[in-house]
Amino acid sequence: MKERSMKTPVLVLVLVLVLAEVHADPFETFKKKHIFEKPENELNCTKFMKTDNLQEKKCRQDKHVIITTKPDEVKNICKDGTKGSHDHYTSKEKFTVIHCHLIKSDKDKDVNSCKYEKEHEEDDNITVKCDNGEPVHLDEEHEKHEEHEEHEKHEKH
Ligand SMILES: *[C@@H]1O[C@H](CO)[C@@H](O)[C@H](O)[C@H]1NC(C)=O
Ligand SMILES: *[C@@H]1O[C@H](CO)[C@@H](O)[C@H](O)[C@H]1NC(C)=O
Repeated sequence: MKERSMKTPVLVLVLVLVLAEVHADPFETFKKKHIFEKPENELNCTKFMKTDNLQEKKCRQDKHVIITTKPDEVKNICKDGTKGSHDHYTSKEKFTVIHCHLIKSDKDKDVNSCKYEKEHEEDDNITVKCDNGEPVHLDEEHEKHEEHEEHEKHEKH
């Protein structure tokens, strides 16, 4: 009986963790991946990407888009945005959009070694996919801007 009372809390904990994983809130994930709530000059791409990298156990994508804003502002796009196809909504306002670019990753998969730099930033309308009134995916189709801006803005402080 004593042994059993020891095991029960462990089992409950495991169950809670499993359920938490299954029900991971997609908007929470979206926020962690794409939203930086402080002024954009405080954004350190390497630091920002670390949480995601630790979770994925690898250096995440080559290019990554971060928006500096309050989460509610992005959520509002699902209400006030212009509806496109397949539950995609485009904001009527412009957001500060920052592009982080992976510049270093080790083959030994030490996620602490992943380094990113700010490639450029711009003010642009953003498009998100909404599910149950919440953003769950950000369309990262800004490549077209990068080609000509990369040269000008590289190493600009
Ligand atoms: C960003 O953070 C990393 C790791 O915390 C640090 O090594 C790097 O110098 C920082 N970059 C800038 C531009 O502050
Ligand atoms: C983008 O935002 C601007 C406001 O900054 C707005 O005038 C324009 O209509 C928006 N574009 C789209 C496609 O919604």
